Amino acid sequence: TRTVKIAPSILSADFARLGEEVKDAERGGADWIHIDAMDGRFVPNLTFGPLAVDAVKQHTSLLLDAHLMIVEPEKYVNDFAKAGADLITVHAEACPHLHRVVYQIKEAGAQAGVALNPHTPLSAIEEVIADLDLALIMTVNPGFGGQRFIERGIDKVRRLRELADQVGHAKLHIEVDGGISSATAASVVRAGADVLVAGSAVFGTPDRKAAIEAIRSAASS
Ligand code: DX5
Ligand code: ZN
Repeated sequence: TRTVKIAPSILSADFARLGEEVKDAERGGADWIHIDAMDGRFVPNLTFGPLAVDAVKQHTSLLLDAHLMIVEPEKYVNDFAKAGADLITVHAEACPHLHRVVYQIKEAGAQAGVALNPHTPLSAIEEVIADLDLALIMTVNPGFGGQRFIERGIDKVRRLRELADQVGHAKLHIEVDGGISSATAASVVRAGADVLVAGSAVFGTPDRKAAIEAIRSAASS
């Protein structure tokens, strides 16, 4: 059985106190820190770039998981890697040359992930799945925190885990992002997810340790 990792998303943190917020999550038992980069084009919102990744890096030793919700991510992958992103996830929908971008990420020294929007079929990553460190199943339409979990994602995770097993890639991380809380964690973990992103469920509450523990105990139930 896989160890479940919890990756609080700083999208729901207090941006004016980002260093303290990240330390609080680390003290609370977070495994990774999830950083949502949005460009106002791929998604209708604007957030962080490489400078924010570099700033966060100064305050934590946890793995930095950069989720690029941006068009033409190949223009920024090297900058995110240089800034300290340990894992870089691009959207399949934003990459006509996905295989090339996956190898660009690896050559930049980071682990490579590909994300799929709720409507995007698994076939979009079928031919590159063996090359990936992580596949991210979006369980909301990306752009904002605090949205409602899309239940159809559970079966998508199950089918992705089957696909990974079929190609002999048992080590593929399957990450879920959107609407994850102690109420939804068990279903996605049972389906085969091992990395849970949680924004509002962690940073939207004052006691981050309790929030992370609640998700972790739900995930093992
Ligand atoms: C949404 C982002 C998420 C967001 C999740 O576009 O990719 O990482 O922070 O927020 P919650 O956990 O509140 O749904
Ligand atoms: Zn995200």
